[in-house]
Amino acid sequence: MTQPLFAVYGASGCGRGVMPLARAQLARQGIADARLVFIDDAPVAAVVNGQRVLGYTEFLQEEASERYAVLAIANSKMREQLAVRCMADGVRPWTVSADNVVCMDDVTLGEGAALSPFVTITSNIRIGRHFHANLYSYVEHDCVIGDFVTFAPGVKCNGNVVIEDHAYIGSGAVIKQGQPGKPLVIGRGAVVGMGAVVTRDVPAGATVVGNPARLFSSKG
Ligand SMILES: CC(C)(COP(=O)(O)OP(=O)(O)OC[C@H]1O[C@@H](n2cnc3c(N)ncnc32)[C@H](O)[C@@H]1OP(=O)(O)O)[C@@H](O)C(=O)NCCC(=O)NCCS
Repeated sequence: MTQPLFAVYGASGCGRGVMPLARAQLARQGIADARLVFIDDAPVAAVVNGQRVLGYTEFLQEEASERYAVLAIANSKMREQLAVRCMADGVRPWTVSADNVVCMDDVTLGEGAALSPFVTITSNIRIGRHFHANLYSYVEHDCVIGDFVTFAPGVKCNGNVVIEDHAYIGSGAVIKQGQPGKPLVIGRGAVVGMGAVVTRDVPAGATVVGNPARLFSSKG
C-alpha cells in the first residue's frame, strides 16, 4: 500500500535543526523514517544527517498517498512563497513539534508550525500559519501572533502582545507585556534585534535593537 511521504523543506541550518524533531515525531506515530526526506532547491548532497535530500520535483514524483512538508526556512517571505507553491501542488502543511513543547489552555496554532525543544505557549493564545518558535522561546497569555512569524532562540514574549505577519524576533529578545485591550504591538514585517528589550510598540517594517529597544532602521 502506498504510504504518505513527509519532508523538511530546507537542508540548511534551520532544516537540520527541525529534522531530528520530525524524525522523532514520526517515530512516536510508528512511521518509519524512510518516509521522511529533506527537500532542497539546491541540494549539495544526496544524504544529509542520514536523511535523503530530494529536489522539489523529485519529491513530487516519489510514490506517496499524501505529501506533507514543514517549511524550515527562516526567511518568512521565502516561507510564504514555498507555502503557496506547496499548496498549489497538493503538498500539505505539516506541523513539527518537539516532544517537550508545553501548550497550555485554549491555544490555536495555525498549520505548518515548527516548534523547537523547550518552547512554551501558555494560555488563551492565537497563532497564525507557519510559525517558527526556536529553542527555549515562550509565548505568554493572551498574545495574538500573525502568519509567518519567526522567533529565534530564547525569545521571551510576555502577555497581551500582538505580533503581526512576517515579524522576526531575534535571539534572546524580551518583549514587555501589554494590557488587556491595549496590547503592545509589533508591526508587520518588523525585525527585533537579538537581545533587544522591547518596551513599546514597534512600527511595521522597522528594525529595533538595544535596551530599551530603539529604531535601528525603517523600511518606510
Ligand atoms: C539587528 C540586526 C537585524 C542587524 O543586522 P545587520 O543590518 O546585518 O547589522 P550589522 O551586523 O551590520 O551591524 C550594524 C551595527 O549594528 C550593531 N548591531 C547589530 N545587531 C545588534 C543588536 N542586536 N543589538 C545592538 N546592536 C546591534 C552592530 O554592532 C553594528 O554596530 P557598528 O556599526 O557600531 O559596528 C541583526 O544584527 C540581528 O540582531 N539579527 C537577529 C539575529 C538572530 O537572532 N539570529 C538567530 C539565528 S537562529
